[in-house]
Amino acid sequence: MAQLRLQLVAAIVAVAALGGACSATAGFEFNEVTVDAIQSGFKNGSLTSKQLVLFYLDRIARLNPLLHAVIEVNPDALAQAARADAERASGHRRRCGPLHGVPILLKDNIATRDRLNTTAGQVFVELSMKNPYVRSVTPCGSSSGSAVAAAANLAAVTLGTETDGSILCPASMNSVVGIKPTVGLTSRAGVIPITPRQDTVG
Ligand SMILES: *[C@@H]1O[C@H](CO)[C@@H](O)[C@H](O)[C@H]1NC(C)=O
Ligand SMILES: *[C@@H]1O[C@H](CO)[C@@H](O)[C@H](O)[C@H]1NC(C)=O
Repeated sequence: MAQLRLQLVAAIVAVAALGGACSATAGFEFNEVTVDAIQSGFKNGSLTSKQLVLFYLDRIARLNPLLHAVIEVNPDALAQAARADAERASGHRRRCGPLHGVPILLKDNIATRDRLNTTAGQVFVELSMKNPYVRSVTPCGSSSGSAVAAAANLAAVTLGTETDGSILCPASMNSVVGIKPTVGLTSRAGVIPITPRQDTVG
């Protein structure tokens, strides 16, 4: 059962800021959306961070009872999204990176500076994650929540961790693109470690 412990993932974290003061989402395609399309939606006024977060919260509420990919959502996600929208509207865009205002799901072994509990799945060992395409097929592990959530459009971007196959295997089993960065190229600050020689976040 050791495998299941780390198979439980993810907490939603709304990221910072750009801002559009728009409320209509007519025509915006949320499913399989890319970060580039999200940013052009912010720019052309067809999308706000708040609408994006609401869309994903609704997807999570409807699909997670089947998929078990998400343990917690950040209770401050909507407020953070509103702040991002306000920042974008007030012209602070130049200070904002491409992930500004884009909600991200994080594997539950990555610490956050907010109200989310980071438990590495310890509290929920009895739940079993489901592959969204074929629910009887393993989603693989241990970054299964990250892969399942991306495949089911629970967020446009998810982060997992890999020590030995934990990004590559779930990405493959859930038909999503998984990037395992070269060890040491991405920060491991706040990640519950297994071995510094192999751990990487991607
Ligand atoms: C705004 O950008 C999004 C994403 O590229 C696109 O789907 C949408 O059609 C655009 N809407 C307008 C009004 O240009
Ligand atoms: C963190 O865990 C506590 C205790 O189980 C729970 O009351 C709280 O709602 C959790 N936080 C979030 C953001 O889910």
